[in-house]
Amino acid sequence: MGEGDVQIDPWSSNQSTDYSRIIEQFGLSSMDHIQMNDPSKLHRRGIVFAHRDLDVVLDAKNNGEPFGVLTGLMPSGKMHMGHSMVIEQVKWFQKQGGDVTIAVADLESQATRGVSLSKGREIALSEYISNYAALGLDPEKTQVYFQSSRPIVQRLGFQLGKRTNLNEFESIYGFSGETNLAHVQAPMVQVGDILHPQTEDYGGLRPIVVPVGVDQDPHLRLTRGLAAKTNWFNVNDGKKSGVVIGLSIQEDNAEILGQQPNGRVDKQKLNSIFEGIVSRLSSIGYSDIISNPKHGTVNIPGATSKDKIRIRTKLLEYERELGGMGLLAPSSTYHHFAVGLTGDKMSSSKPKTTIFLGDDIDVIGKKIKRAYSGGQSTVEEHRRLGGNPDVDVAYQYMMYFFEDDDEFLQSINSDYRAGKILAGEMKQLCVDRATEWLSELHEKRDQSEHLVKDFLASDAI
Ligand code: TRP
Repeated sequence: MGEGDVQIDPWSSNQSTDYSRIIEQFGLSSMDHIQMNDPSKLHRRGIVFAHRDLDVVLDAKNNGEPFGVLTGLMPSGKMHMGHSMVIEQVKWFQKQGGDVTIAVADLESQATRGVSLSKGREIALSEYISNYAALGLDPEKTQVYFQSSRPIVQRLGFQLGKRTNLNEFESIYGFSGETNLAHVQAPMVQVGDILHPQTEDYGGLRPIVVPVGVDQDPHLRLTRGLAAKTNWFNVNDGKKSGVVIGLSIQEDNAEILGQQPNGRVDKQKLNSIFEGIVSRLSSIGYSDIISNPKHGTVNIPGATSKDKIRIRTKLLEYERELGGMGLLAPSSTYHHFAVGLTGDKMSSSKPKTTIFLGDDIDVIGKKIKRAYSGGQSTVEEHRRLGGNPDVDVAYQYMMYFFEDDDEFLQSINSDYRAGKILAGEMKQLCVDRATEWLSELHEKRDQSEHLVKDFLASDAI
């Protein structure tokens, strides 16, 4: 790591919030150039601040092609407002037509938090899925499963282990010789979570987006790298222009791609593979295709960088026909963390820092009244200097969670800065909104209790 570099530890609640540095250091894309119809409030307010390959998913959506959403929950402790942000996003993607898969990370929770599988199940259903139902996820279009009871998830994790090593884990996660192996296995299971929806039994090849907090990005980096390493056909930009396809010869495809054990090339086999590539490319409309089996490349001079995803998809299909896994790197989106009530980090292990979805309404009011404020120390000063909504928890919570109306939010933002709204008044606004929001949620939770079982996939019942 270079000096001043950020390390992201997915198991710590102490995350860096230096988001521009994170974007730069880990190569995330900012949301600036992303066009979205009907963006959610998290999108409109810049709370979802970065992504990887989100355009792949949005293109699929715009072309009326299928896409999936996968996310996971760690069943330990109670669900708090911070957790609801991922569900907001999942709901949005669901409305856009995505099919939704949710992993209950019961194996991870057992390995890293000491929660038994049966306890994990109980927490997942009573704390999380019941709130997902109340928050409005559609049970018809959502499949919840448990890591411990979906063999393909664990199998993929095991199989892809072959493509990484402890050095990579050291550099991604900071693991060392003392690291418990359960911590090494947990990310591999998560790789299985993220990739399995594109296998034939779980919906087949299609873009999958993983909305998460940025603490989970190490797992996405790992998964994307592993998926790419398994690909039989590399798709790259040409040196000057166009797109170039190359073969990636590996232990388990060498024979099929015409590399004989004695080191000789089976020309007939190789040629037929190349014919296969050309015919897949012609099927998506390219006519100028330069196939060069001797060099091991196919050039498409007329293709541009933007065409790569279509080409890649076709070749992944072809790879699957030939017996490969044909894995597409997952897309992802990242949200900012909401500040904790104390003005510090929000953490489920510190109840004073957050509002739990199950908190009693009067407790919520008290918590907000005690929250860190961006106001001045006296009324007189506040009127003169104004408050700072950027650090004011009450304002922040309205922006992140409770207030849908952008114009209203903008107006209280400027009135606060101008000293027209006092810190206590801002808190009261938040208490009112929070009360309304959470009472409605509690009511819905009672009404939708019977739906919880409808969210479960058949292997989760
Ligand atoms: N590791 C995640 C957490 O700590 C839970 C999780 C498991 C997950 N599998 C996932 C998240 C797949 C996103 C995608 O909360």
